This record gives sequence, structure tokens and C-alpha cells, in this order.
Amino acid sequence: MNPRVLLDQLSAEAAVSGSALAARLGVTRAAIWKQVEALRASGAPIEAAAGRGYRLSWPIEWLDDARMMAELEPGQRLRIGDVAVHWQLDSTSSELMRRAALAGGDLLVCCAETQSAGRGRRGRDWRSPLGGNLYFSLLKRFDHGMGALTGLSLAVGTAVIAALADCGVEGAGLKWPNDVLARGRKLAGVLIELGGEFLGPCHAVIGIGINLRLPAEVAATIDQPSIDIAALTGAEPPSRNRLAGRLLARLIETLDCFGAQGFAAFAGEYARHDLLSGQPLRVHDANGTIDGTGAGVDERGALRVRHDGRVRSYDSAEVSVRVR
Ligand code: BTN
Repeated sequence: MNPRVLLDQLSAEAAVSGSALAARLGVTRAAIWKQVEALRASGAPIEAAAGRGYRLSWPIEWLDDARMMAELEPGQRLRIGDVAVHWQLDSTSSELMRRAALAGGDLLVCCAETQSAGRGRRGRDWRSPLGGNLYFSLLKRFDHGMGALTGLSLAVGTAVIAALADCGVEGAGLKWPNDVLARGRKLAGVLIELGGEFLGPCHAVIGIGINLRLPAEVAATIDQPSIDIAALTGAEPPSRNRLAGRLLARLIETLDCFGAQGFAAFAGEYARHDLLSGQPLRVHDANGTIDGTGAGVDERGALRVRHDGRVRSYDSAEVSVRVR
């Protein structure tokens, strides 16, 4: 039984009984029950409506390549070709890392309804329940080496904020280097992985996860406080296809501008959304831990921290805001 066909039979308004589903899909009630349990385990929002069967907690809008592409400028559309939409992948970023080895265009994009092995930064996993969030990756090839990509992850963070704003979602900010937080909780994450030759040519796979609807049972299993757009705005989240399309459009703009001018072109925009500036911070890196105060980022995107009357810059570190 195709799981999407079953989900399409369920509605967010009215419950449908197991026997009605079995009759419509030409299978047994036991087969329906088994599929519902499997879908629930993938995070699909299926509720049991007491004595009346099953219904969806919210209407699912499936990812659709054409609807995403409609958000792009005509010139951007020509450069992308298409967005590969998958029902399930291990990880959209792993998929593009595999595809990077094959010949192909300068920009490749893929997204999935769910990921079985979604990956976060620093070896963490990224919970990827089915049908409610965005799991999106973009591969960009560069003729030059990796050294020119310093600060790219911060620039990508500003693209995520801009795409959210395009869809009417305000109130998110950036925690260095590229966590997207709202009300102190994680709304979206960015994972950038590089491949190819250090001195060039090379490629970057930019993986972005955005929580639009994160089921409470899933949020409870994540080891850091999370929030979704539905909770942030207190309203129906934006269309997933519109958000994915705007994200793609903003990323293409960002990559073009970054290619021409580097991080310097994004420093002002990053500063407007910098959640760490002026905050009491604890910074941990290979040399140890210091307590200081956030002092923005430098022209390369390194974190600046004031400590004992001087400012230190960090290219890579674990940072947390200290409770005052
Ligand atoms: C983070 O730890 O903040 C980064 C999370 C990145 C998650 C996204 S979801 C799409 C892409 N595929 C993955 O496996 N990871 C990224």
C-alpha cells in the first residue's frame, strides 16, 4: 500500500474509520492498522478520533517541484533545472554528497518528506518527522578552493532569515555560526559540508532543516529546546512549497553575492540578526573555556568575544549564552 495514498484519504476535519479505509484501498483492516502505525512511527500526524477512526492533526501539503520553482526568478529557474523531491532519504545532504561525485550541473537541489538518518552539526542527528517540516539540501560547485568559503555558513544563515521573512515569519535570529533560533529555541539548522580538492575545484552541500510543525512527541526527544513556526507565529505555518521556493531563491542570490564579494557583503545583515552580540558567553574550543561578552563577528565571519579587556576571534568553537 502506498503510504501517501493512505494519508491522502485522511482529512484534518473529519475522521475516517479503519474499515472505510480498508474498503476504499482494497486491503484488510489489519493492513490499514499496520500502515498507520508505521506512518506514526515516521512522525506522520495521524490522530485516533475516539470511536470514529483516524484523522490528520493538520492538513499535509506535499512537496511539489513545480510549486517551489514558481517562487524563482526566470533566470534562476533556468540555472536549477529541477528540484528532486523524495518521499524518504537517509539524508538530503548525504544524497547530494553522493551525487557530487557524478557529473552534473553547477547547482543541484533535493528535499524529502522525511529522513531516516538526518544529520546535524557536531555529529548530532536531526529528527525528521514525515510531512510537516522542511529537509532541504543544495549542492554548489566552485572552481576555486575551500579557503574562499570562509563565512559561507553565516551568509547562509541570513538567507534562511530572509526566506522566513518572505513568508511572513518574523522573530528569528542567528546564533553563531548558523543556528536559527526564536525565543531562545531552535527553529532551523544549517549544516555545510565541503568536498573536492582543498585548493579547488570543490563543492559545498548546504543542508537546511526548518521546523514548521514539529510534533510534541518528537520535540520531547531532542536534546536541545526546539520550536516550530506554528508555535512561533500562533497561526497556520506558511506553505512548505512557498518556503522551500523562497529559500532556494534566497540561497541562489546569496551564493552569487558571496561568490563576488565574500562574507563582507553580509556582515551588516548578519549583525542585524546576531543574537550573541553583547551577551555574556561561554566559549569552548581546543584551547579551553573562557567566559566573555559577544562582540559581533569579524570580516571573515569569525566570532569576536571580549574577555579580560581584549577581543579574541574564534573560527570554530562551541558557544553558549551564560545565564546572568
Ligand atoms: C544543525 O545541527 O543545526 C544542522 C541541522 C541540519 C539539518 C538539515 S535537514 C536537511 C539536511 N539533511 C541532513 O541530514 N541535515 C540537513
